[in-house]
Amino acid sequence: MRPSQRSRTAEGTAALRAAHLLLDDEPVVLDDGYAADLLGAGWAQAAVEPWARARRRLAKSAAAAAPWAGRFPTGTRRLRAQVVVRSRYAEDRLGEAMERDEAPVAQYVILAAGLDTYALRSRHLEERLKVFELDHPETQSAKRQRLTVLGIDWPPHAELVPIDFERQTLREALADSHHDASRPTFFSWLGCTYYLTRKAILDTLRVVAAQPAGSQIAFDFWSRSLPRRADRLLLRSLRLSVAGVGEQMLSFFDRREATELIRQAGLEVDEILDTREAQRRYLAGRRDGLVMPDFSYLALAAVR
Ligand SMILES: C[S@@+](CC[C@H](N)C(=O)[O-])C[C@H]1O[C@@H](n2cnc3c(N)ncnc32)[C@H](O)[C@@H]1O
Repeated sequence: MRPSQRSRTAEGTAALRAAHLLLDDEPVVLDDGYAADLLGAGWAQAAVEPWARARRRLAKSAAAAAPWAGRFPTGTRRLRAQVVVRSRYAEDRLGEAMERDEAPVAQYVILAAGLDTYALRSRHLEERLKVFELDHPETQSAKRQRLTVLGIDWPPHAELVPIDFERQTLREALADSHHDASRPTFFSWLGCTYYLTRKAILDTLRVVAAQPAGSQIAFDFWSRSLPRRADRLLLRSLRLSVAGVGEQMLSFFDRREATELIRQAGLEVDEILDTREAQRRYLAGRRDGLVMPDFSYLALAAVR
């Protein structure tokens, strides 16, 4: 991403979380009541604008693109499903890691947090959990400013830790924080691997692998092996739209490649869910058409 600019894709995913509460049926998959406030007026625009621009470029004619402008296209519903399910997945796995008898975790590191609001939503866990949000400094300072404008105090159990994954190691960033490297930690890394080089991903996973036994990481990755044309088009539009805001997608993996990468980093694969499995777990029986795109995978890896 552009070094001097806050992440626009972080705003886009927050807008999708906000839209979920407005547009989708009960039961809510992820109840992120802060997302809309963090974005401020015009937040819906953040979800639709870059998308509509990419559609216009793909359609090559304003007439063909017109129906997409100014409303939530079907594609954003699929992205919305992906965004809320991946956060819910990570938060559920964190909850399990905190409750287990052996090596329960009391530290949660959110890599590439963007406008993630878990820290704000978990004030009640203040005595049991330390939350570390790592992200690009520009994205963090925009978030901090927005919270100040809203009059929301930063929670005492959470710490903002700046990092540029392409220039700095996770170890260095954590060493500059109050993170305790002698105790197991749960990590999440959502919506980010595709924006990084394979080397930066591997370096980060290796730092997780060096944490004490019981540490885990939940992350998502995207695949380019897509049999369905609709998914290929959706991914293409998405790549265009994020490139248009300075965030190039660089890395894609299928299940086999991701498994190799996780093992190469020195971690054990707990599970890898494809769209169908994630859909069955989190979106089964819905009537609102909330379905996930086929390119998204969820992974849980552990230090044994
Ligand atoms: C699509 S957003 C995802 C944010 C959040 N995890 C979510 O699910 O909404 C991508 C995030 O990756 C971060 N990011 C991308 N490249 C980065 C880099 N080189 N170093 C640090 N953060 C980076 C951006 O700042 C942004 O917050």
